[in-house]
Amino acid sequence: MKILGIETSCDETAAAIVDNKRVIHANLVLSQLDDHKAFGGVVPEIAARAHLDHLDTLIRGAMDEAGLRFNELDGVAATSGPGLIGGVMVGMMAGKAIAAAHNLPFMGINHLEAHALTPRLTDNVQFPYLILLVSGGHTQILVAEDVGVYKRWGTTIDDALGECFDKSAKLMGLGYPGGPNLEKIALTCTDHAGAIERFPLPKPLKGRDGCDFSFSGLKTAVRNHIEKLPQGDLNKTDIADLAYAFQITVTEIIEDRCTKAITRFLREYKNSFPHTYPQSEQTGDTPQKPAFVVSGGVAANISIREKLKDLTAAHNMDFMAPPLHLCSDNAAMIAWTGIERLQRNMTDSLDIGARPRWPLDPTAEPKIGGGVKA
Ligand code: KG4
Ligand code: ZN
Repeated sequence: MKILGIETSCDETAAAIVDNKRVIHANLVLSQLDDHKAFGGVVPEIAARAHLDHLDTLIRGAMDEAGLRFNELDGVAATSGPGLIGGVMVGMMAGKAIAAAHNLPFMGINHLEAHALTPRLTDNVQFPYLILLVSGGHTQILVAEDVGVYKRWGTTIDDALGECFDKSAKLMGLGYPGGPNLEKIALTCTDHAGAIERFPLPKPLKGRDGCDFSFSGLKTAVRNHIEKLPQGDLNKTDIADLAYAFQITVTEIIEDRCTKAITRFLREYKNSFPHTYPQSEQTGDTPQKPAFVVSGGVAANISIREKLKDLTAAHNMDFMAPPLHLCSDNAAMIAWTGIERLQRNMTDSLDIGARPRWPLDPTAEPKIGGGVKA
């Protein structure tokens, strides 16, 4: 079974072909980074036009690389939300047109579900598993119970973590996208203890019940520290120290929130992992440890990754982080989600609309905040 996947929900135009044996036959991603750089962030109108300009070429390129014609596909999957509506419509309309012209099943994919199912493409992880999704648009803790069945245990009540990295980096005078630049300069900090002392930062919601996040106070505190520094070009040591303090603070917040989620997961889903409990050792089932997955662009951050690795090892969980090119936005994850859904007859009619907001867990209480897309 081979599926064409299309992704256009933010600032990456992407097309991919994936089969049900987990082979990625093509995975093309065109970043619009340069188009948006001058504005310090993604401009929705520019993004939609860029998708329109490049999507045809990318789809053709992916089909050529896989050596396929459209009528050899088993279906088409395109992101239908959540995301920037103009871009989503471009990709979804292209996908629907191909499906209609070649009489193929169409799957309108929830972009968040695609991030959540990526570890099943890369590692064949079994349900249920715990996910931390940290990107420029989302910060969520989810339990994946099955395809289409998710429990959202935590989300940001204001900015997404990637957004907080980007905005704080911008305040420090670092280029866009700020996350990787901030990480790089934090590595140059030589006096770790001194940096934390010079630049104390708040840890919103740390220690509180539940698994929600809040980052806007952190960004404001970064601004206040910068305003107190001598005017003019920021000194390199100051930025390195502030970036280091920022990263350590974020890592501590994540550790706190994920510890809450892990404890709850191991308690509530205990019966899904009988091998870890002595009474069921006789069954001879292949042991599967409970899995913790981190995904999204911020998962590239080494300091966050290392902390999560230690945390999950301490709880005897498997730690999985899909390779970076499948962690950040791509169409292979969209095609794979299409496969999972087609295998379960979860196809969509061509009437399906684009959804700027589309929570994975419809029972979760909505949180109103600037960075919350679901
Ligand atoms: O998943 P992604 O590629 O796109 C979406 O937002 O969906 O995530 C991009 C975000 C940006 O905010 C970027 O600054 C952040 O991920 N990011 C990082 C790092 N690499 C990317 N944040 C911190 N450290 C990094 N190394
Ligand atoms: Zn994404």
